[in-house]
Amino acid sequence: MDKTKPIIIAIDGYSSCGKSTLAKSMAKTLHYVYLDSGAMYRAVTLYFINNGIDYNDPEAVTEALGYINIHFERIDGQNHTFLNNTDVEHNIREMRVSEHVSPVAAISAVRRAMVRQQQAMGRKRGLVADGRDIGTVVFPDAELKIFLTADPDVRTSRRHLELAAKGIDAEWDDIRKNLLERDRIDSTRADSPLRQAEDAVVIDNTLLSEDEQLQKAMELAYERIKEAGKAD
Ligand code: DC
Repeated sequence: MDKTKPIIIAIDGYSSCGKSTLAKSMAKTLHYVYLDSGAMYRAVTLYFINNGIDYNDPEAVTEALGYINIHFERIDGQNHTFLNNTDVEHNIREMRVSEHVSPVAAISAVRRAMVRQQQAMGRKRGLVADGRDIGTVVFPDAELKIFLTADPDVRTSRRHLELAAKGIDAEWDDIRKNLLERDRIDSTRADSPLRQAEDAVVIDNTLLSEDEQLQKAMELAYERIKEAGKAD
């Protein structure tokens, strides 16, 4: 039986840096829960779009949040996001959602609701979460914080491939513009802007394969798990 003490691993960084790929692989290797925090902001955005909610209207936002229920399920080994009991894993990745998600994620009432749920998921630790404020706001006491970066053109190409594999058609230039615009909004917003936690380890994966990146991150994870065990 695995008697090691479970830790929290926080992975933050710019859009399409490969955070979810890394987070999923780490969670799988460690048998931890994977928390896709971006999917939650995407699901809220999808709800606003589908229900014609004006997200610039604070009252409409507060009221709508009362009707939004998000949960995750594992289906055939994959993480699926559910919005009010409907599987929206595919829909939340569409460009129409990507185009509005950053302004929606900048709304404090939205963040408060999501962060509360994310913290509840981490109560027992044994969790890998990826997002923008995981190491700074959601889990400031995470035992391992990783800040991922990569060249914007490489990020655009990876995103392009990822969307194509999902059957979602989008122009390379539009994807690049969207990534950079999201980075700008995410890092300049007033509430919980994207920034590197002081105690985060930076990994630039521009020239790393997925395997190389995973190996680097897992070395750090095993180190921190060992330390957490000793501190007991
Ligand atoms: O990781 P992603 O691209 O699916 O995230 C979608 C958007 O959600 C991103 O542009 C910023 C926002 N987000 C956030 O503000 N805080 C998080 N912890 C995760 C995502």
